[in-house]
Amino acid sequence: MRSSLIDDGAAIIADAYDGYVLRFRDLTRRARPNFESRDWHAVQRDSAQRFDLYLEAVGGGLERLRPLLDDRVADRPTWPALRGAYARAVASRADVELAETFFNSFTRKIFHTIGADPAVEFVIPQLPWPSLPAAGEQTKVFPRTGILGTLVRNVLDAFRFRPGWEDLDGDVARVTRAMEEALGGRTVEALELLTPVFFRGKGAYVVGRAKTDRGDIPWVMALVNPDGKIVVDAVLMTEDEVSIVFSFARSYFLVELDRPRDMVAFLKQIMPRKPIAELYNAVGCNKHGKTELYRSILAHLDETDDRFDIAPGQRGMVMSVFTLSGFDVVFKVIKDRFDYPKTVTHQEVREKYGLVFRHDRAGRLADAQEFEHLEFDGLRFTERLLRELSTVAAETVRIRADRVVIAHLYTERRLMPLDVYLREVEPARAKEAVIEYGQVLRDLAATNIFPGDMLLKNFGVTRHGRLIFYDYDELCLLTDCNFRTLPKPTSGEEETAGEPWFYVGDRDIFPEEFRSFLGLRRELRDVFLAHHEELLHVDFWHRMQDVHTRGEVVDIYPYRSARHLRGHDQEREP
Ligand SMILES: Nc1ncnc2c1ncn2[C@@H]1O[C@H](COP(=O)(O)OP(=O)(O)O)[C@@H](O)[C@H]1O
Ligand SMILES: [Mg+2]
Repeated sequence: MRSSLIDDGAAIIADAYDGYVLRFRDLTRRARPNFESRDWHAVQRDSAQRFDLYLEAVGGGLERLRPLLDDRVADRPTWPALRGAYARAVASRADVELAETFFNSFTRKIFHTIGADPAVEFVIPQLPWPSLPAAGEQTKVFPRTGILGTLVRNVLDAFRFRPGWEDLDGDVARVTRAMEEALGGRTVEALELLTPVFFRGKGAYVVGRAKTDRGDIPWVMALVNPDGKIVVDAVLMTEDEVSIVFSFARSYFLVELDRPRDMVAFLKQIMPRKPIAELYNAVGCNKHGKTELYRSILAHLDETDDRFDIAPGQRGMVMSVFTLSGFDVVFKVIKDRFDYPKTVTHQEVREKYGLVFRHDRAGRLADAQEFEHLEFDGLRFTERLLRELSTVAAETVRIRADRVVIAHLYTERRLMPLDVYLREVEPARAKEAVIEYGQVLRDLAATNIFPGDMLLKNFGVTRHGRLIFYDYDELCLLTDCNFRTLPKPTSGEEETAGEPWFYVGDRDIFPEEFRSFLGLRRELRDVFLAHHEELLHVDFWHRMQDVHTRGEVVDIYPYRSARHLRGHDQEREP
């Protein structure tokens, strides 16, 4: 084929990528003025819109590419050539790894590639991962020259917002005191902070590390805007706490990314336990996060003999779930047919996941990645898993000789199902989990989500002991539900009827029924009731519905209430 045609084709894809990056940056940049003017609805809208940009950009690029290449668009030899030309076009970009992922999306749309095709895709990244600490371009070092308070003041001076600080002197004093407590005798020599501010929901975060006489520790400052002026709400200085701020169960940050790799490399140093894939997701590059996840699955299969096996816990009625031992991810395939009494369709299940992707996840809904046409070596699957998949998901999973091809699946972070957890842990931990369970329902309600199927098996526990919901097929907006009190039976017959004797609509929910529905053993149910009795009454749910109908956006903090530097009227755990 003419090389100019190839160059033109590559230019179209590079151009589509460029357009994507500009729109992404544009939406991301609105986060600051939205935070400053407290326009929380705009924040939500922009986050959802930004999520959709990627597929729009790929679709738009394909529309221009098809007429140019004509029937050669699906010719295999076209693509290695296109890839070469594209690689040259994007080589000098600071976000070249994202640009490669973008190219791969084109090839997968055209070829529905089974597995990854090294002839047409960028399977191996062009650049090695930076081994040096991220260079100074995106961070700023604030050396300590005198007392700690002066250093804190310098930082607050550098990170200024248009409305100004509500109480600068007070914030300096509170931050200094909190840091001294957290330092436990260590001395801060400097703070090294990422210059871009991280925005999400109603919060803004300054992220970096404290260089101390005994090594580096994470340093994150949480800012809020309760009444029009900026307030420092918390300072977090442990890996666990910072890791929870960056959790896979929270929405992606809006943060300016000139050099995503360096940014992620820096974050990885602060949170060494967090997978690179999740860090890319956290800063909004979830498509590239998916590439990184895919590579880490391949690497894990390569480096170990671990096999895929049925996930521990109760089998799903809608999803068939499996794990890869030694790997922190579960794989979820939609079953061909759903067990009684599930009435959702495949399409609806996918729509529910789509809703979760775009909605505020509140620290309580597990993020997922959607894969198509994955291929694995059949020998890496246990017998019983192959049998399970060929029985319940034969339409999605094809098993051919020694290959397993999966047309569609979701991956999620692997958690310990709550029903399993409650059976295994000591009573004190189980009690904490049950209190936390009620808090999940409250946090979801605060973001206008009703989980639907709220049985214990649909919640998982993280290594931090946090509880997260993952079963989405009955999830819906709180404002779409109809919360009702159970009608009083008027006759003995009605009272003893096994089936409801009154009309139950599709969206009807009877909170009184949660009591028996939850399936908690006696002592745990008492703990639940002691803390969350109000969840069994319609008043609570109606009140929350009103909050959303009025358009209020409720505060949810990704840190413990004890961390609030100025105390709060309504203390809530994250
Ligand atoms: N993220 C996860 N981590 C660990 N186990 C999970 C995860 N997601 C699902 N499971 C397991 O798979 C089962 C079925 O998954 P679920 O999402 O609840 O689908 P279903 O709608 O079919 O119930 C769960 O009961 C649980 O045991
Ligand atoms: Mg379930």
